[in-house]
Amino acid sequence: MKTCVAFFISFVMLQQLGIAQLKPSIIPQPVKLVMNKGSFQLDQGVSIKYQASQLSLKPAVDYFIASINEISGIKLSLNKPSNKTIELKIDQNLKLNTEGYELKVSDQHIQITAKGYAGIIYGFQSLLQTIPQVRTNAKLEIPYMEISDEPRFQWRGMHLDVSRHFFPPSLVKTYIDLMAAYKMNTFHWHLGDDQGWRIEIKKYPKLTSTGAWRVDQNALVWGTRPQALPGEDPSYGGFYTQEQIKEIIAYAAIRNITIVPEIEMPGHSAAAISAYPELSCSGKPQLPMTGGNYKDMSSNYCAGNDAVFHFMEDVLSEVINLFPSKFIHIGGDEVDKTDWQKCAKCQARIKKEGLKNEDELQSYFIKRIEKFINSKNRKVIGWDEILEGGLAPDAAVMSWRGEKGGIEAAKMNHFVVMTPGNPCYFDHYQAGPEGEPLAIGGFNTLKKVYDYEPIPKEINQEKQQFVLGAQANLWTEFITTSGAVEYMVLPRMLALAEVVWSPVEAKNWNDFNRRLKYHFNAFDQKGLHYSPGNFTVDIRPISKNNQLSVELLTESPEAKIYYTTDGAVPNISSNTYQQSFPITSSLTVKAITVLNGKIMNLKPAEQSFATHLAMGAEVTYKTAYSKYYPANGPNTLTDGIRGKLSHSQSWHGIDNNDLTATIDLGKSKEIKSITIGCLQNYNSWIFMPASVQFEISEDGQNFTLLSKVDNDIPLDLKAATIKDFKVMTSGKQARYIRATAQKIEGCPKGHPGEGKPAWIFADEIIVE
Ligand code: ACM
Ligand code: ZN
Repeated sequence: MKTCVAFFISFVMLQQLGIAQLKPSIIPQPVKLVMNKGSFQLDQGVSIKYQASQLSLKPAVDYFIASINEISGIKLSLNKPSNKTIELKIDQNLKLNTEGYELKVSDQHIQITAKGYAGIIYGFQSLLQTIPQVRTNAKLEIPYMEISDEPRFQWRGMHLDVSRHFFPPSLVKTYIDLMAAYKMNTFHWHLGDDQGWRIEIKKYPKLTSTGAWRVDQNALVWGTRPQALPGEDPSYGGFYTQEQIKEIIAYAAIRNITIVPEIEMPGHSAAAISAYPELSCSGKPQLPMTGGNYKDMSSNYCAGNDAVFHFMEDVLSEVINLFPSKFIHIGGDEVDKTDWQKCAKCQARIKKEGLKNEDELQSYFIKRIEKFINSKNRKVIGWDEILEGGLAPDAAVMSWRGEKGGIEAAKMNHFVVMTPGNPCYFDHYQAGPEGEPLAIGGFNTLKKVYDYEPIPKEINQEKQQFVLGAQANLWTEFITTSGAVEYMVLPRMLALAEVVWSPVEAKNWNDFNRRLKYHFNAFDQKGLHYSPGNFTVDIRPISKNNQLSVELLTESPEAKIYYTTDGAVPNISSNTYQQSFPITSSLTVKAITVLNGKIMNLKPAEQSFATHLAMGAEVTYKTAYSKYYPANGPNTLTDGIRGKLSHSQSWHGIDNNDLTATIDLGKSKEIKSITIGCLQNYNSWIFMPASVQFEISEDGQNFTLLSKVDNDIPLDLKAATIKDFKVMTSGKQARYIRATAQKIEGCPKGHPGEGKPAWIFADEIIVE
């Protein structure tokens, strides 16, 4: 009896193991995937079959035959008599959306059924991911299976900035190939910016003969590049001819990818202005920018000059003739409106049109362009700044400064694409940062991308239809080579692909990592650059019941964490992390990730904790802190970790409100001093509070005012600064402490946001 049970169990386990081994590594995860026993052998004898009436499928079939040939050397035949076939079928009654498909692999027969071209291409993509990507003499076995699949979102986007650095058509095609493999369908091509105009416009040849070329300062880091001097050789740059663009559009269309061109306006246009200075407010000649420095240069078109609109319409006409995309991206972001404030023509326009200010002038600009684009049967999409001063009637919004703009637009029944900086900016670090190529900043890891949910909770059921999807943006200030482009999108694009394609229930981080190995093999085989993932240990404080503990997390499902708390550099004989542990004295945690016996970090992650009486205490806010600055959660002010000069970590931010935090020490304690740290970061609209008021209480109801401490940091101080607001209490007893940081009346005079709401940032209330 015993042996019989054992035999039965091992048989079942073997069977499961067999099936598990055969399970393909398709990314994005299909909606429904059922594995069956057995496999189809792919060899020269296989013929693809489809009806002559479906001639439009021919480019998809050619693409598939070429792809199979590239991976395996096998040449499939087309519509030849054969007992082994891949059959394509168009069925309008399929209960899937227009990009959906069914794929059935069975004995001697593979069938792909779809409503149209897109579904057939996606059936092929899934099939391609079932065979080894590495050349092998072994038989190519495709497991018997049934897939029924369709995308969750219709906008599955990837953006590429070719202005900050220029990339040849071959890289653009590689980018499109990668997008296609993971069923991304929208390529947002950022064709111009301050540092280079990249699209040939027949009517304005100087846009490319002048605007596409700048002085070569590629040896210098972006932010340190000086402005070009007259007489220097503008030898760096490039552009795409209209012929090249047509070819790339066709190349993308075969892969079911729409290219959305972006023609930036009214800002980020210094390169166009260097070609045609009369388009700016000042009309002054200038050279294309070489980096981020634009002192005494014009970056904006003049909004008071009708010739600018005629120019824009001419350019857009050529763009619209080239690109079949329904959406035309007109930029609209980060317009520095100071030139407009000083320009007689702009001010005359404001007066004549009855506009209130420069924000409304920008809105006038976009609305006027929208009318033109609509007259050509196309739609406008722009960055979320186009909401300021009033959104154009039919414009779609790309939400990049968080999700706020997207939420606002969706509530107004406008279409939106979500691409919040965190986690959709792929120019940010994905690992390290030690050992990573220099990046613009941020920390958008593979798992952060994987965990992204494009529909924010603030958008109700009825308005969710306005979220078209999500997109990752690749700005290239710090990305100078084709290999670097690949590295920054691989593998994060695969995570995003699953976000925008797969239903939430089908997502699984561990299984995604299992499947990823197959794709890493494919990248190796193809010589593509990619990141192996983020192995930096996340040292995370947790407060509970007035006790602070620390939790150590790694994104790698198969890795182990080793750590120290005595200052020593951890190695594989240090403590193995098992579970969270309490912090009872001031100390420094150092931690490493170890995978297959190998330390995965150049430098351990490190976090110091400084103990004080309020550490681990509960914090309640009168007005909630911004969801964009959650730091370490609700008790960030008492987590023993002090915020540093970078405002993206450790700080709680409150927008346009006083910050009132109450701390419960759990029991009455003798208090000598109370301190709250505040941050000023002029460029990010973060300012010192006008004052901080400190109060104490024994019962949490009746508070006694201790003192009000006024700010003495000048609001026009541009360097990031931390100030400790502190009060001495001469040993008073209290259980509750309340600190109120009072907001200033708006950003100070001379600031780009003068009079507009400012942020207060606070971290760590230290009680001693
Ligand atoms: C942007 O990142 N300026 C849209
Ligand atoms: Zn002007």
